[in-house]
Amino acid sequence: MTTILHIDSSARRTDNSVQEHNSISKTLAAYFIDKWVTFNDEDKVIYRDLGLNPPEFICQDWISAVFTPDDKKTDKQKSLLILSDTLIEEVVKAEVIVISSPMYNYGMPAVLKAWFDQVVRVNKTFTFDLARGDFPLEPILSGKKLIFISSTGEFGFEIGGIRENMNHLGPHVKTLGKYLGVEEFYEIKSEYQEYGDERHENSLDEAYLSIEKLVQQLS
Ligand SMILES: Cc1cc2nc3c(=O)[nH]c(=O)nc-3n(C[C@H](O)[C@H](O)[C@H](O)COP(=O)(O)O)c2cc1C
Repeated sequence: MTTILHIDSSARRTDNSVQEHNSISKTLAAYFIDKWVTFNDEDKVIYRDLGLNPPEFICQDWISAVFTPDDKKTDKQKSLLILSDTLIEEVVKAEVIVISSPMYNYGMPAVLKAWFDQVVRVNKTFTFDLARGDFPLEPILSGKKLIFISSTGEFGFEIGGIRENMNHLGPHVKTLGKYLGVEEFYEIKSEYQEYGDERHENSLDEAYLSIEKLVQQLS
């Protein structure tokens, strides 16, 4: 049995009366999970909708608590880290992580960054040792697969695309995944949402097809 951690991060829902108002990234991620469980019906899914339930931003007291050794942490510090502890436990349990995200201002939504800030944590998901020289961080966790599903209004964010250098979404998530133990990264994207034309329809069709192929490949 595999545990899958499914994280959605769009501010939009998927149950609007006007279908065009629904989140594309959440709809695609739900399709991935649906296909996955038909192939792997024993698997367990842990689900978080960060758009509907945003994690708290970290603060100075949170950082102090993280850097206080466990046996010296006060009750207040322990309680400040409860959310982080819980979210990290979910990452630890998961062999497969599915993250869906809209592109907002060429990067990830603040709620998803808040989640990463809560879960990428020293001595929990990575260690820091200056003896390693210029790259002192090393992940503690390993062997995870990350499927990243995104939706953008514009297009051309791929390598060699006309907006490659404006893409601070997929590359950012891929970089951070390493510190959650991700060793295999897959990206599926829908583009052109703002144009609402045939290119968008084709992009969406391709995304659904890529999901079907990827689920078969990984199952
Ligand atoms: C606040 C906001 C900022 C956005 N910024 C960008 C952007 O920088 N680049 C882009 O291509 N699309 C941008 N978009 C369009 C969204 O990426 C697009 O609507 C996408 O489908 C949203 O994902 P969702 O359908 O899962 O909610 C933005 C949309 C919003 C609401």
